[in-house]
Amino acid sequence: MSLPRIQARIVRHGLQPSSHELFVPTSSRLSPRRLLSTTPRHNATIAPNSSSPADPSQSKPKRKPLTKEQREFLSSALRVNQAGELAATLIYTAQTPPLVNAHPHLRPLMAHMYAQEEGHLDTFNSLIAKHRVRPTALYPVWQVLATGLGWSTAVMGREAAMACTEAVETEIGGHYNNQIRTLLEMFDQWEAEGYEVGEELRHLVKTLRRIRDEELEHLDHAVDNDAKKAEPHWLLTGVIRLGCRGAIWVSERV
Ligand SMILES: [Fe+2]
Ligand SMILES: [Fe+2]
Repeated sequence: MSLPRIQARIVRHGLQPSSHELFVPTSSRLSPRRLLSTTPRHNATIAPNSSSPADPSQSKPKRKPLTKEQREFLSSALRVNQAGELAATLIYTAQTPPLVNAHPHLRPLMAHMYAQEEGHLDTFNSLIAKHRVRPTALYPVWQVLATGLGWSTAVMGREAAMACTEAVETEIGGHYNNQIRTLLEMFDQWEAEGYEVGEELRHLVKTLRRIRDEELEHLDHAVDNDAKKAEPHWLLTGVIRLGCRGAIWVSERV
């Protein structure tokens, strides 16, 4: 459901969303970027647990409004994840023809990993559209680099292609783990302060865990298929991992 439709439903039913039920405030006249970086208009202080029985907020869920930093974290997390998953689909798209041509037995594996990456990309495409997060401005750059990386490693051979997957998935697995850790710390803090955690954010963590596990499964497939035999493995994986870290850093910001 689109954000305006969700907002219309909220208005129709007289509901006040918690600010982390929707990452963005309801003021739809602001630009998407501003929506995610601004304290919501309904940023009213949520009543503490000890509020008086007459307090009308007591019957509502006690959810703490997201801070500006938390909004920016969520927005940059969705942006970088979408860019990363786009890159992953492009790497596998470019690797598959030369790799499968030389090693037909790898076709099912490549198709399986590509299908999973496509699913990840669909997930983040939906999330950034729903929450009006601006996609990375460097989309065309990542497209060229990811395709080039996929094609060149596949041409170098099966081991190099697998070393590429090993390097990328190592970085991406760690990247998703960092996001999950940050969100869980946020949840712990809210719960320690007596606030509830919205279902939407809990679902996001569940999604990130599932995707993280699938990335680590790709890493295992790469190692099982002789990624470590690439020559020189240390240089190839070192350069690709450094490139991934740089791309993540830039995509979180630009
Ligand atoms: Fe992925
Ligand atoms: Fe992956």
